[in-house]
Amino acid sequence: MFRRRICFCFACAVAALTAYLMMFAAPSVASAQEKKAEKKGGDAKAVSFITDVAPILKENCFACHDAKKKSGKYDMTTFEKLMAGGSDGPPVVAGKAKDSDFHDLIVTEEPRRMPPRDKGEAVPKDKALVIARWIDQGAKLDGGLDPKADLVKELRVRWKPPVPPEKYPFPAVVNSLAFSPDGKTLVVGGHHELTVWDFAAGKLVKRVYTRSERAYGMVFLPNGNLAVAGGRPGQEGDVRVYDLNAKGRFAGDVDILAGVNDTKVMLKHLIDVDDSVLCIAVSADGKYLAAGGTDRAVRVWDLSSGVAGARLTQTVENHADWVLGVSISNDGRFLVTAGRDKTAKVWDLQAKESVVTFPEHQNIVYGVAVKGDGTAGFSVGADKQLRTWKPGGEGKQVKNAGGHGDEVFRVVFNPKQPMLATSSADKTVRLWNSETLAAGATLNGLTDFVYAVAFSPNGEYVAGGGYDGNVAVWKVSDAKASPKVFNASPGYVAPKAAEPAKK
Ligand code: HEC
Repeated sequence: MFRRRICFCFACAVAALTAYLMMFAAPSVASAQEKKAEKKGGDAKAVSFITDVAPILKENCFACHDAKKKSGKYDMTTFEKLMAGGSDGPPVVAGKAKDSDFHDLIVTEEPRRMPPRDKGEAVPKDKALVIARWIDQGAKLDGGLDPKADLVKELRVRWKPPVPPEKYPFPAVVNSLAFSPDGKTLVVGGHHELTVWDFAAGKLVKRVYTRSERAYGMVFLPNGNLAVAGGRPGQEGDVRVYDLNAKGRFAGDVDILAGVNDTKVMLKHLIDVDDSVLCIAVSADGKYLAAGGTDRAVRVWDLSSGVAGARLTQTVENHADWVLGVSISNDGRFLVTAGRDKTAKVWDLQAKESVVTFPEHQNIVYGVAVKGDGTAGFSVGADKQLRTWKPGGEGKQVKNAGGHGDEVFRVVFNPKQPMLATSSADKTVRLWNSETLAAGATLNGLTDFVYAVAFSPNGEYVAGGGYDGNVAVWKVSDAKASPKVFNASPGYVAPKAAEPAKK
């Protein structure tokens, strides 16, 4: 169940939000002009391949006709290949939509149709018409575009992120959060933004707009910059580094930073991949930054010459499925990872080799942590257990601890004490002694799955946040006291509890 939530609708709420916002999106000038043109009888407007046609193909065709699948030996993800066709030869006759298989196969009444009748809906009529017009107008490629260019990448480059809503009509899922280095504020992943909160007052102080729709993982580097892993599910994934102290513009008393394109805010774009990056970690000395995700790879950057000089040094493909968690030992030797392939793994960053696989969870492993000196690894997963094992050993479990009533998503180390915190679908955060795995306090106060958990830099506070957008901050030494709780979706007002039904 969590799998479905984390994968595709981690945020039904966010999907709903997007739909809601679309309703308010003003129709573009172009589409208004097109409407006029249509009234006049059709093809006045020149059809652009990249802006008009390629998005239709991406939506309706690429799933089967990309470089991997190549159905009918046909890959159409570059213009050149699209025009060359598959085993039947070139499917587009420039200037003649009626003689082009490419168009005919979309609109045909015959059994052989594209997408195949048993595999998907027909291409909507208005979109088929766009393709017909493009062919009739000569099936041209836009000037300046390389016929060999990867169309998926080209579309991504052209995609513009929406501005986050001033007030959220729905709560955005909290997938990650981090205390600022001074311990005074909490940074939370929102919808196309990072929000910064004075958590003692539950007050929004800063919004950092981002291209990324969701921040799945974030970590402050020793220099004070924030590295964020995230993406848009199924569309793109990225790792970007931000300076949250850069200059913004105030709207009321909230500081707004243009993290999409102000290069003083968004300092570095480290990768651009086809699907979400889900987890990120930095070594204590700030030398290594590692991020993993849906492409099964963990990329490792050397930051010894600073963020601007970041160098990708290793791409570790050690898991058979998504990488969901990552951690690095203080000496920069062990890279510990959690996988949807039901294992935790250790990679030696110096020797560049796999050290050990820990299979004990027998179910999805969501989170990992490693003791600073590299002598103990910890993992949590869908089996509701916290387990410890030796990173340098044979993959044998040393100990396990239950207690959570549902799947456990993350495990993090207290930076000042031998203490771990775990967060779970059972709506709680739990504290543990990291030496003995003896259970400490159970922290209550959240009301849904707790996806994110973090300690403050002085180790005195722990924060959790999750599915319903709520964030709670507890004092570690006073776990029984009620936490500060606030909803981290700016301006969101939770509906009042339903009136009891009349008798
Ligand atoms: C669900 C998978 C699927 C989707 C989606 C799909 N196709 Fe296909 N396509 C196939 C398969 C399988 C073949 C090979 C069998 C055949 O030719 O009927 C094929 C063959 C073709 C061919 C003939 C290639 C050749 O030279 O043999 C063309 C042209 C084509 N598809 C166009 C399209 C277009 C345009 C779209 C999007 C509107 C599309 N397809 C969507 C599965 C798909």
